[in-house]
Amino acid sequence: MTLLRPDPDTTPFLLAARQLPAERIPVWFMRQAGRSLPEYKRVRGEGTILDAIADPERAAEITLQPVRRYGVDAAILFSDIVTPIWASGFGIDIAAGVGPVCERPFASPADLERLRPLDPSTDLDFQTKTVELLVAELTPLGVPLIGFAGAPFTLASYLIEGRPSRDYAKVKALMHGQPELWHRLCARLADLAITTLTAQVQAGASAIQLFDSWAGALRPEHYREFVMPHSSRIMAAMADLGIPRIHFGINTGELLSPMADVGAEVVGVDWRTPLQVARRRTGGRVALQGNLDPAIILAPRHVLDAEVQRVLDDNDGHPGHIFNLGHGVLPQSDPDQLLRVVELVHAASRVS
Ligand code: CP3
Repeated sequence: MTLLRPDPDTTPFLLAARQLPAERIPVWFMRQAGRSLPEYKRVRGEGTILDAIADPERAAEITLQPVRRYGVDAAILFSDIVTPIWASGFGIDIAAGVGPVCERPFASPADLERLRPLDPSTDLDFQTKTVELLVAELTPLGVPLIGFAGAPFTLASYLIEGRPSRDYAKVKALMHGQPELWHRLCARLADLAITTLTAQVQAGASAIQLFDSWAGALRPEHYREFVMPHSSRIMAAMADLGIPRIHFGINTGELLSPMADVGAEVVGVDWRTPLQVARRRTGGRVALQGNLDPAIILAPRHVLDAEVQRVLDDNDGHPGHIFNLGHGVLPQSDPDQLLRVVELVHAASRVS
């Protein structure tokens, strides 16, 4: 069977990722699926979110819900950054209202053995099945599917802290105190990301996003020394697959240049950094994705409209722009406000 992905030469999201003009400005939202949608709550089921992720029919349905409701220009696979770690048997779960938690956090070289390499045909078969179901539904609609993985720093932060952290004290203690162990851990996590992303693309994903959500906790020199080699290896391993690569983190205004050097076509920008500043810092070598403040979705309609326009004005008609929020959709968001954003962005592209 030939895999038919949406046409890279006519699909707005795939054109913008290569900084080429498109018939409209593409828009999608990080966390567009999930708790903000009543239809998600209906199919999510009891049990942990990992149970829903491991069920291809349910995961595919959840992925499609925001495409139907909003008419977004891309779908993102319903999964989580910790899915490959969970599949490796490390012992990680996602606690409701908390996030990823490990009962026995990573602390010593012996813990490396708990991160065994993945065999995609057995360990990730549920994910391959989900991607195949999705590509069959999405390609006739011309909507590309984004696959994703967590980057080594962000994943290591959950493994070492054992839960979400504010200060990353244990992570930084291990990074600076046991640099050799740090690099061995990150090398394993990079391998997991490469295996996961490659399987997603081979099953039909049209783009990938590497989430280094918490890398903004680092100063640029430390980012370059302790993180960049591993994330660069992931991006390099994906380079020949012919799909756009997106690299994202929050609080990364000072890291935009090194994050662009990691080798993605697109860099995500959070709401703290205006797009024109981000474009200057990345020297125009990448397309930008972002960057409406997710909290603006909760604001009155006239504020929302003005802030969407501000993002568009900041971008100033540059073809290398994928409209998104600066981070994920907040669970309390009103779906009608997100629909409004899609309508405004698409309408703006028609007049310009
Ligand atoms: O629509 C999409 O964006 C796809 C689904 C998706 C999920 N997680 C599903 C999910 C994606 C892309 C992720 C990535 C992810 N997971 C990241 C990177 C993006 C970011 O937010 O920076 C991170 C840091 C995680 C780790 C994680 N998983 C957190 C912090 C949480 C939230 C905990 C909570 O309950 O508030 C999760 C759980 C999670 N992952 C939910 C969803 C829909 C909510 C829990 C549920 O529905 O049971």
